[in-house]
Amino acid sequence: MTKVSFIGCGNMASAMIGGMLGSGRLSPDQIVASAPSEETRERAQQIHGIRTTADNREAAAGADILVLAVKPQILPVVAEEIRDVLSEDVLLVSILAGVSIAQLEASFPIEPGALRKVIRLMPNTPALVGAGVTGICSNMAVTQDEFSLVCDLCGTFGQTEALPERLFDAVTALSGSGPAAVFMMIEAMAEGAVSLGLPRQQAVRMAAQTLLGSARLLQETGRHPAALKDMVTSPAGTTAELTRVLEERSFRSALIDGLRAAAERSVQLRGNGQEEKNGSGQ
Ligand SMILES: NC(=O)c1ccc[n+]([C@@H]2O[C@H](COP(=O)([O-])OP(=O)(O)OC[C@H]3O[C@@H](n4cnc5c(N)ncnc54)[C@H](OP(=O)(O)O)[C@@H]3O)[C@@H](O)[C@H]2O)c1
Repeated sequence: MTKVSFIGCGNMASAMIGGMLGSGRLSPDQIVASAPSEETRERAQQIHGIRTTADNREAAAGADILVLAVKPQILPVVAEEIRDVLSEDVLLVSILAGVSIAQLEASFPIEPGALRKVIRLMPNTPALVGAGVTGICSNMAVTQDEFSLVCDLCGTFGQTEALPERLFDAVTALSGSGPAAVFMMIEAMAEGAVSLGLPRQQAVRMAAQTLLGSARLLQETGRHPAALKDMVTSPAGTTAELTRVLEERSFRSALIDGLRAAAERSVQLRGNGQEEKNGSGQ
């Protein structure tokens, strides 16, 4: 029976645990999580029915899969604490934004010449409702079966995309920071609707559903976004006016430039060995 240990049990760990248990992929007795505060531990016990502990070493000992789910700046402390209780063949899975596989290998060294099994994930906040998208990559020590197992587990809280690590700054920009752009768009669309007379709550609900429904239409038909845009745009109609104004105001290039700036920031933060003070570092 695979034992999965989480070091840190905040928002993202809780979303992952919720998915893994909700799907029936794992049972509560397979998971243990550590966190310093009693409040967090009690919440995890109540919501997920899993065992929790304040002791990272206790959580890490005997783990088959160890998920690092603390803030990136806590990594050195945690590594120092648990490295000697980890088995040589534990599968180390990190969700730490901006922390590379090489940094993880160096934080958890094993005997000279051997390589620690490391998987790096980049999940996003929609994982909280089981609709995330997680970028995944690994080092050479991870077998195809182990990689597939973690892909399956990530599939319980959304979609999984295998990508080389060199693209993780782009992943951080697209799916990590991307939700903020989507929320801004929902907010702005609702604001436009309110200015046209819609009650605010209905406007927000309808804007959100418009986004969700459009995304599903794209996913389920597999059609190109431009083809779906054309489908809704009648000659000299209302949508043609909407898209004309958005093009005039550089809507698409603002998003392209925004994503490029976010990826550049991710590179800078990685270089400084730091993450944003607030939030997850995306
Ligand atoms: N949120 C996102 O969108 C997102 C996306 C991708 C990646 N990430 C990454 O996911 C990681 C966690 O983010 P999060 O949003 O889940 O943060 P969070 O909600 O703040 O969770 C952090 C957890 O770490 C625990 N912790 C703090 N110090 C610890 C220690 N010394 N030993 C063990 N546990 C400790 C905290 O415990 P207490 O609650 O007891 O303080 C808390 O449960 C970060 O590295 C972030 O970069 C987040």
